[in-house]
Amino acid sequence: MDRPPTQDRRHPPRPDIWAPDPAAFRPADPPAERLRALVAWAVLAPSTHNTQPWRFRLAAADRLELRADRGRALPVVDPAQRALVISCGAALANLRLAAAALGEALVVEPLPDPADPDLLARIRACGPRTPAAEGAGWLAAMTARRTTRFAFAPEPVPASARAAAILAAAAEGGVSLHWVGDAGTRHAIARLVAEGDRIQMADHAFRTELAAWIRSRHAPGRDGISAAAFGMPDLLSFVGALAIRTFDMGEGQAARDQALAEGSPALAVLSTPGESRRDWLATGQAMQRALLALTSAGLAASFLNQPIEVPALRPRLAAAARLAGTPQLLLRIGRYDGPPLRPASRRPAEEVLGASG
Ligand SMILES: Cc1cc2nc3c(=O)[nH]c(=O)nc-3n(C[C@H](O)[C@H](O)[C@H](O)COP(=O)(O)O)c2cc1C
Repeated sequence: MDRPPTQDRRHPPRPDIWAPDPAAFRPADPPAERLRALVAWAVLAPSTHNTQPWRFRLAAADRLELRADRGRALPVVDPAQRALVISCGAALANLRLAAAALGEALVVEPLPDPADPDLLARIRACGPRTPAAEGAGWLAAMTARRTTRFAFAPEPVPASARAAAILAAAAEGGVSLHWVGDAGTRHAIARLVAEGDRIQMADHAFRTELAAWIRSRHAPGRDGISAAAFGMPDLLSFVGALAIRTFDMGEGQAARDQALAEGSPALAVLSTPGESRRDWLATGQAMQRALLALTSAGLAASFLNQPIEVPALRPRLAAAARLAGTPQLLLRIGRYDGPPLRPASRRPAEEVLGASG
């Protein structure tokens, strides 16, 4: 049985990471305390394999650094650490939107030091600002968003939600969100996803890396993906990881993902003009803004990045979707009407936040 952690005597109750208290941000506190309170929202961001590859460092009384945690990289599926930087960008978006919601003006410098490639952003707390009118909605969406790997209801994504996601993504310079609604293009893309699955799952190194991040949500590390995210009991996480490591299940995975891609009301591709770390950091922020807009509209998303992760398929995806730029993420979007999903595990703010020195 999949038990909530608070009922498990081996694992003492933890504060609910998924329900940060907005009142923990107090405008009268010193800037370092205000920045600390914002990190509690940043850690709710999605990340590739739930690696949570971010570190925050209080570099001065009023300054925070967002740093890449390269020890959490995925050398097989993400050799250039593209998805790692995208994931950190999502955490940065949450932090910025939480600041705007709670009334803190920030100055953010992306990639400020070419000599220090792990430093992804420098963030300075500049004091009170008028809280954003949409702020409460952003905070609610940060806690409600779940990567949803199950089938969606067949109804189309409303035009208002499509427009909101395009606008949200466009807030980050250069990133475009392109909707794929027509069945012919969806079919072509779904076939590329299936081809990507077969290639990836035939690779023992890919499977070993994936299996290493599949674990129970009660595991002490508070990261990785539970078997529950794929519709199995959480307790089968160990068995699931073993099976993935041992067997090439590419055909089954390909058939499942192709059916999910074709059966989803819409696919969306996020693309950038180039392929630099700046493009990746912007993609992560644009993705998170779009996911929050979709969550607020009652929609869910999951990722089908296989044709982006397999280099030979990436130009074919760009051609199939008729993109001008470089595809960075492929999402499947729709309304999820199944039972509520338990949130994925997260490391708390204290664990990812260090002081200067
Ligand atoms: C850059 C990026 C790439 C991802 N790629 C995939 C993917 O290919 N397949 C998948 O099932 N989930 C993918 N995910 C979703 C993560 O597995 C998910 O965010 C993580 O397990 C935490 O769960 P949550 O989003 O529900 O909080 C990706 C997430 C990010 C940010």
